[in-house]
Amino acid sequence: MEQNVQLDQAPWWQRGALYQIYPCSFKDSNADGTGDLQGIISTLDYLTWLGIDAVWMSPIHPSPMVDLGYDVSNYVDINPLFGDLATFDLLIAQAHQHGLKIIIDYVPNHTSDQHPWFLESRTSRQNPKRDWYIWADAKPGGLPPNNWIARWGGSAWEWDKATGQYYLHSFDKAMPDLNWRNPATKEAMFDIIRFWLDRGADGLRIDSAQYIMKDPQLRDNPPNPEPLSFPYKPPEEYDSQQHINDRNGPGIHEIYRELRQVLDSYGTQSPRVAIGELHIYDWPEWALYYGMRLNELQMPINFGLLSVPWQAIAMRHLVNAVEATLQPGEWSNYVLGNHDISRITTRIGQQQARVAMMLLLTLRGTPTVYYGDEIGMHDVEIPPDYVHDTWEMNSPKAGFGRDPERTPMQWDDSPNAGFCAPTAPTWLPLASDYQKINVAAQSKEHSSLLSLTQALLHLRRATPALALGSYASIESTPADCYVFMRQLGNKRLLIALNFSSDEQHLRLLATETARILISTFLDREEPVDLASLHLRANEGCIIELH
Ligand code: GLC
Repeated sequence: MEQNVQLDQAPWWQRGALYQIYPCSFKDSNADGTGDLQGIISTLDYLTWLGIDAVWMSPIHPSPMVDLGYDVSNYVDINPLFGDLATFDLLIAQAHQHGLKIIIDYVPNHTSDQHPWFLESRTSRQNPKRDWYIWADAKPGGLPPNNWIARWGGSAWEWDKATGQYYLHSFDKAMPDLNWRNPATKEAMFDIIRFWLDRGADGLRIDSAQYIMKDPQLRDNPPNPEPLSFPYKPPEEYDSQQHINDRNGPGIHEIYRELRQVLDSYGTQSPRVAIGELHIYDWPEWALYYGMRLNELQMPINFGLLSVPWQAIAMRHLVNAVEATLQPGEWSNYVLGNHDISRITTRIGQQQARVAMMLLLTLRGTPTVYYGDEIGMHDVEIPPDYVHDTWEMNSPKAGFGRDPERTPMQWDDSPNAGFCAPTAPTWLPLASDYQKINVAAQSKEHSSLLSLTQALLHLRRATPALALGSYASIESTPADCYVFMRQLGNKRLLIALNFSSDEQHLRLLATETARILISTFLDREEPVDLASLHLRANEGCIIELH
């Protein structure tokens, strides 16, 4: 009883699990081979059945699609590829009827170079919109104003012949950076937030959140003698610098405090949430984005699980470091995949993907499930004719391409996997094994990854200790096992995960009576002796202590 009260009191974004949809690839309703909003509406029963609480959609606004929607040319409309404002309103209404929240992707750092603001800005140096973007003179010899590198390689500056200045683009040259130091730009960007919140959106996923403020003097970045290495990405030119001047600049926290006030002005009854994309791995610095008084982002995205190899010890150290950083009220969150990184099944294999799902859905904090990970979709090899990602086009076959993890959702075994009409050409190729790996097949199979994901999400919802309880790792376990305790009141759950393909024998808390609630194999619910706990190869268990 007491625990239920606590669950009800926690805001929805703490209690629940998020689900990321890549709109091009979720469900097509009009047989053009690309997903759309009407398609998403038709999947709401599935999402409810699965047990998620909120959907975050990658951008759905008009866009030349140089960066598949992250290059926005009109923030207050819907890309005709996906539908129109009336369909968006319908999505919100129907999602809310299903008890689901809708979070939109908000892209504040840059617009498309086709956005009317930029078209105006580049007409002349005197244009009132000139200062809405970041323009600077060439250095002697016509060189770019400083040494900043674009995220996808090469200088971050593009020369504009007509007006004789460079403009800044932290990503592609077709995506010029906005100047948030200009109060008019800032207000216009806040008005966009109001536009969507007025229409009922429940929150924002803020794209490239740390990029919006730069050093006002545009000073060079220093070299980076020891770049962090990431297990799933080849080294990039971008990592050759310390990005101390081209992002995370002075004034950024004031902006997020103001942005939060915009959200909070919509009331506390059903709070609107700000979730920021922050690739920061220095945890104290990352946590600054919660705000000194919890008055910035409710959830700076924590990409930690993607930054270390898939090893029990590495994961334990990582989670412990994050947990040790968080102050009371700073709400944790975790992701294991998204549209920018190779899929989890490809990274660690099908068997460990089940352990990964158990980890994600039992850690303290809000989890985000990437669409298709619940059925174990894997990366798909993309023939050259199909490549859409500009990063891949700029550096072919260098391992940067993100199309492989963005392929159509696999709904059933019919032609085109039930993603679109059988005759439509899908925008990216389908996985060749979709006839085996799909929602329809796995929903009938008791031991499938989909059944496991659904069971974990429902257990999490029914068990406040999992959603809201404290976290403590257990240190004295075999090196291949990661074991932690979640506790709320007198409800205690032990999560024991075997990261290896060998059987493991654990000696834990001998005096306790314990019972397995769920195994990743979905085949045992039984009392266990914690003094002698066997985990099979690639097995994870949630164990209730009495
Ligand atoms: C974010 C998005 C990524 C996009 C980039 C530029 O990192 O997740 O897909 O390319 O921002 O907007």
